[in-house]
Amino acid sequence: MILPLERDELLSRWEGWRDFAEAPALEQPERLSVKQIEELSEDARVVYDYHRERYHANFLVKTPQVVRLNGRLWDLLDANQQGPSRVKGAAVIDSPPGLGKTTAVDAFGRAFHQRQILRHGRDFDDGQTLHIPVCRVAFSGNTTTRALNESILNFYNHPSADASRSRYLRNRNLAALAAESVRRHGTRLIIVDDVHFLKIHTDEGVALANELKWLANEYPATFLFTGVNMSSTGLLSESKTDKKLAMSQIARRWTRLTLPPFAHPVGEHRKTWMTLLGAIDSRLVLANARPHMLREQADYLYERSTGMIGSLFKLITLGAVHAMRDGTEELTRAVLDEIDIDVAAEDAREAVAMELEEKKLAAAKRSKPRSVA
Ligand SMILES: Nc1ncnc2c1ncn2[C@@H]1O[C@H](COP(=O)(O)OP(=O)(O)O)[C@@H](O)[C@H]1O
Ligand SMILES: [Mg+2]
Repeated sequence: MILPLERDELLSRWEGWRDFAEAPALEQPERLSVKQIEELSEDARVVYDYHRERYHANFLVKTPQVVRLNGRLWDLLDANQQGPSRVKGAAVIDSPPGLGKTTAVDAFGRAFHQRQILRHGRDFDDGQTLHIPVCRVAFSGNTTTRALNESILNFYNHPSADASRSRYLRNRNLAALAAESVRRHGTRLIIVDDVHFLKIHTDEGVALANELKWLANEYPATFLFTGVNMSSTGLLSESKTDKKLAMSQIARRWTRLTLPPFAHPVGEHRKTWMTLLGAIDSRLVLANARPHMLREQADYLYERSTGMIGSLFKLITLGAVHAMRDGTEELTRAVLDEIDIDVAAEDAREAVAMELEEKKLAAAKRSKPRSVA
C-alpha cells in the first residue's frame, strides 16, 4: 500500500503559499465504530489512520480571539486601499509563543488571497504577470534590513535574491527591486512572521525601524507582523529623542493586536472554554469518542494547557494518535495523563491548578445568597 506523502511546499515561496492558500480544507474522515475499524483490511486501516492523523493535526477552530483579530485585520486592509502617497497603517500581533499567531495570520492571509483573486483575477497584462496577493516571509535569528529585502525577493523567486549574496547589490537597490516585485504582482498584504528578533537599541535596529517606515510608505501593501514581547523590543514605544524618532512614528502608525490565552474557566469565562472544547469534541475522529468527552474534563484540560491554545492542541493531537495506536479510541484521563507536552505548560500546571481552585472558591462564595452568608 503506497500513500502519497504530502510534501507541503515551503510557505516562504509564492508557489508554496499559493498551494496552501488555494487548497480545499481537509475533509473530516468518516467516524467508524470499533467493530468497523477491526473489520478493515490491513491496507485500509493504514489509509484510515493516515487520514485521521492528518485531519487531527490540521483542523482549525475559530476562537473568539481569532474572530476579533480577523475583524480588525479586514478593517485595516480594506481601509488601506488608498493611493500610494498616503501613509498606510500596519499591524503587529504581539503575544507569547504558542498562542496561535502564525496559525491566525496564515489563515487570514489565505482568506485575503482568495478574496483578492476573486476580485481581480489570477493574472495581469494579458496573462504575462501573475497576481500574487500575499507575500509571506518569516525570520529566524537576527533581522536585518538586508535579510528582510532578501526574503521578499526570495518569495518572488527573483533572480537578484541569489545575486545579492555576492554583495554586488547595495541594500537600497535590493529594497527597490523588492518593492518593484510587490507592485508588479499586485501584492497587497505582506506577512512578516517572528519579527521579535529585532534589536532596536542597536544601530542596525534603528536602521531597520527606518527601513520599515520607508517600506510602509513605498509599498502599495499593508504589513502584518507577528512577534513575541514586542513592547520590550522598544519598537513600539513613543520617544521624542532624535535617534528614536523612527520608533515613535512606528508606534503611531502600527496597530498592536494580541491573541490572549483563555481565561480561567470560571464564571463568565466558563462558556468560552466549553465552546472551544465542544468545537474540538465535534472534530475528533475516534471510535469511542463521546460527544462531551473533552467538556467533561474541562478543568483538567485547562490545568494541563494553562489556557494556551498551542499546548491544548498539542495535548489533544498527541492524545489522539496515542488513543488510535493503543486501541482506546477515546481521550480518557488515563490516555491524556500519558502525554507530555511543552515544558512551559508542564511547569505552570500546578500553579494554574491552584489559581483555578481559588477562583472557583471565590466564585462560589460570591454566588451564595446574602441571607446564608
Ligand atoms: N485556531 C486554531 N485552531 C487549531 N489549532 C490552533 C489554532 N491556533 C493555534 N493552534 C495550534 O497551536 C499551535 C501553535 O500555534 P502557532 O500559530 O504556531 O503559535 P505562535 O505563532 O503564536 O507561536 C499550532 O501548531 C496549532 O496546532
Ligand atoms: Mg509563530
